Amino acid sequence: MKLKSILFAAATLFAASAFAQAPIMIKFSHVVAADTPKGKGAQKFKELAEAATKGRVKVEVYPNSQLYKDKEELEALQMGAVQMLAPSLSKFGPLGVKEFEVYDIPYILPSKAALQRVNEGPVGKSLLKKLEPKGIVGLAFWDNGFKEMTSNKPIRSMGDFKGQKLRIQSSKVLDAQMRALGANPQVLAFSEVYQAMQTGVVDGGENTPSNIYTQKMHEVQKHLTVSDHGYIGYAVITNKKFWDGLPADVRSQLEGAMKEATRYANQIAQQENDEALEGIRKAGKTEVYKLSPQEKAEWRKALLPVQKTVEDRVGKDLIASFNREAAAADAAK
Ligand code: LMR
Repeated sequence: MKLKSILFAAATLFAASAFAQAPIMIKFSHVVAADTPKGKGAQKFKELAEAATKGRVKVEVYPNSQLYKDKEELEALQMGAVQMLAPSLSKFGPLGVKEFEVYDIPYILPSKAALQRVNEGPVGKSLLKKLEPKGIVGLAFWDNGFKEMTSNKPIRSMGDFKGQKLRIQSSKVLDAQMRALGANPQVLAFSEVYQAMQTGVVDGGENTPSNIYTQKMHEVQKHLTVSDHGYIGYAVITNKKFWDGLPADVRSQLEGAMKEATRYANQIAQQENDEALEGIRKAGKTEVYKLSPQEKAEWRKALLPVQKTVEDRVGKDLIASFNREAAAADAAK
């Protein structure tokens, strides 16, 4: 063999083995800070996935809307520009899976126990299945926590909502919720909320303490009302073509890593939010007010009709199954 063809053969062999060893890349994009339940869950998944696959998979986590904002990230996942996301359950409507907005019905899941029954049981599984026709596989549910109201004007009783412009995520159920309260809902991407609050484009919004604190929203909001009127959680999702195309052993290693990361994320969420609320209190820029039981009852009463208003959008049976799970969790207390 001539020297030239030996060199060519060697180069081909080298390229082939380099190709065989090139790690499978997972870009995991999300919109919140790294120091939140979702941010820490994503980081945990990275560590576990890389260890379980012995480096055959490399996970790059991009927090804080660094790569994509809310709506763009879903498009990027469908196009294969990123492989994993964990959007809030309130953000699946624009994708055409509006049933996820059932989680936005105020007070529908009154406890973490009720939530667990839904997410870990058949109701949660059937919700995740609805993503597949969109080219998406739902891998897990991750918790954040219950939402509180924030504003530059106090919000305690129903009359306080009148005329307030409050930011919501892109969910029609949240729109109905704000209207039932008498407020003016305004959809904004998460990455735009701080500035909108700072400049007075909106008076306030609703979010979990961990999101409020890590985005420094408390520095531009004078009031926070501990109302726990709704919930923010996530579906961890991946591109179906990518997932189905993985070698079977790698896929099952990643499933194991996801299971473990899910356990971790759900375990830390409450504490992260408790600490964030404490941080907001300590920063001293926001007056923190906890609704009295009577005030909470007033909120519940005003918000109950939302279940009816959104029936056509999310499905009567689905709402009934959430109510059933909540009642069962309550009975098991
Ligand atoms: C929001 O937009 O307020 C949240 O969904 C952000 C998040 O991902 O927790």
